[in-house]
Amino acid sequence: MVQAVIEKHTDAGDKREAVLSVRDLTVGFGDHVVLDNLNLEVLRGEILGFVGASGTGKSVLMRTVLRLLPKRSGTIEILGADYDSMGEAERIALDMRLGVLFQHGALFSALTVRENIQVPMREYLDLPQDLMDELARLKIELVGLAPEAAEKYPSELSGGMIKRAALARALALDPDLVFLDEPTSGLDPIGAAEFDELIAKLRDTLGLTVYMVTHDLDSLFSVCDRIAVLGKKRVLVKGTIEDMLACDEPWVKSYFRGKRARAIVREQD
Ligand SMILES: Nc1ncnc2c1ncn2[C@@H]1O[C@H](COP(=O)(O)OP(=O)(O)OP(=O)(O)O)[C@@H](O)[C@H]1O
Ligand SMILES: [Mg+2]
Repeated sequence: MVQAVIEKHTDAGDKREAVLSVRDLTVGFGDHVVLDNLNLEVLRGEILGFVGASGTGKSVLMRTVLRLLPKRSGTIEILGADYDSMGEAERIALDMRLGVLFQHGALFSALTVRENIQVPMREYLDLPQDLMDELARLKIELVGLAPEAAEKYPSELSGGMIKRAALARALALDPDLVFLDEPTSGLDPIGAAEFDELIAKLRDTLGLTVYMVTHDLDSLFSVCDRIAVLGKKRVLVKGTIEDMLACDEPWVKSYFRGKRARAIVREQD
């Protein structure tokens, strides 16, 4: 049954270019194989929601794709480049096109919001301070923070403001592809919905591709174009929210058609 679902939802009919292609990826720690021959494609301009039970390897996959964890086997092609055949200069050029918002430790606590946003600029670009200040100001505005937030430290911000500031940092170098690991966790439903709207707006205006790990059913229903479900060490099912609602795989069924999900479906009707 699961196999049938997977076959039905391949990307064959979608002509958009894949900006990320993961093929037969295996990742593990000692005897613990976390991902086993996993396959995944992310298409240009889409918001892909990535779900799965806690501990199934969503963050491990994201960190492996970002080369922060080693893979045992498989290939990762990102923005047209293959990791294994890339030179150092190509890697740096690629990293500049990727924005990341990590699940934990979103900002450096000893730096202000402005300084946090300027970290990637300092790492990759050689710009005068006044230009970096202007760029940071624009990013702060882009994510809907007040200008005063620039000189605040993370401890002086609310959870929602921290997420926005972390998003501003992820956007510092105008990336093509952004990775967001649980961007709305810890936010109240209104704050989370506002954040989702912001992500959708940025995708539409900046042409971003968004890879979003999330447990947030509202986000999955409202902003994700496609959803991939991680289970049994691989992508178990992928497709639209309608595909998820029609899927009989037990975890997918209880997740998308459980009590919490039904309340959201009713709200949207
Ligand atoms: N650096 C590491 N060393 C050893 N094991 C690790 C490491 N990082 C992750 N793991 C293990 O890999 C598995 C997957 O972890 P991961 O953080 O990817 O889960 P997740 O799907 O992101 O969960 P959650 O939804 O709770 O964030 C877990 O069993 C975890 O303990
Ligand atoms: Mg995680």
